[in-house]
Amino acid sequence: MLTSSTQTWLRPDPATSDIEITPMASGDLDAVIDIENRSSPAPWSGQLFLEDLTRKWAHVDLARVALDGSSLVVVGFANYWLVHDEVHLLNLATHPNHRRRGIGTRLMDHLVDVATGNDCRLITLEVRRANEGAQALYRSHGFEAVGMRSRYYSDGEDALVMTLDLNARAAVAVR
Ligand SMILES: CC(C)(COP(=O)(O)OP(=O)(O)OC[C@H]1O[C@@H](n2cnc3c(N)ncnc32)[C@H](O)[C@@H]1OP(=O)(O)O)[C@@H](O)C(=O)NCCC(=O)NCCS
Repeated sequence: MLTSSTQTWLRPDPATSDIEITPMASGDLDAVIDIENRSSPAPWSGQLFLEDLTRKWAHVDLARVALDGSSLVVVGFANYWLVHDEVHLLNLATHPNHRRRGIGTRLMDHLVDVATGNDCRLITLEVRRANEGAQALYRSHGFEAVGMRSRYYSDGEDALVMTLDLNARAAVAVR
């Protein structure tokens, strides 16, 4: 079986239906950590992901694709907490070899589906102020910047707070 670090490139423009979203299991840890280490300036430890597998309100959902007709390989993940009527997105990443092919979009579509399916009114997240790519992805899903957390990250970078108001979104959809 291919590991995340030996993946070949996806064929161009995979249909989003080719991307499967399934919950993480402990056996997926190496693939998730590989993507995390390649994606974050301050990567989370494996222990943090494993702890979230034990919390009822925490979710780590994986995007998997079949590369070259082989078994499904993890190419991205979304880590979020679902508490009362809010979803908080803690972490989102796509393996660098597979970016700009719709995987982040598919994970965000899934997050919105989970939130609406659980009658949530809000999705919130923090994103690095300089991370324009992720901000563009979030804006394309209707998120708006609502504030700033000064020196939020361990290296001193500010965080932009972004939210998606699902009630407002639903009201627009029925107009
Ligand atoms: C942010 C991230 C998850 C996006 O994943 P992805 O699979 O490449 O996302 P998609 O292919 O679905 O991109 C959808 C849209 O988002 C925007 N976007 C994504 N990455 C972008 C970038 N680097 N620069 C500008 N816009 C970007 C574009 O509008 C893109 O549409 P397009 O490709 O048609 O122009 C990925 O770049 C990543 O893992 N980054 C490192 C980790 C990170 O920053 N996570 C966010 C933490 S808050």
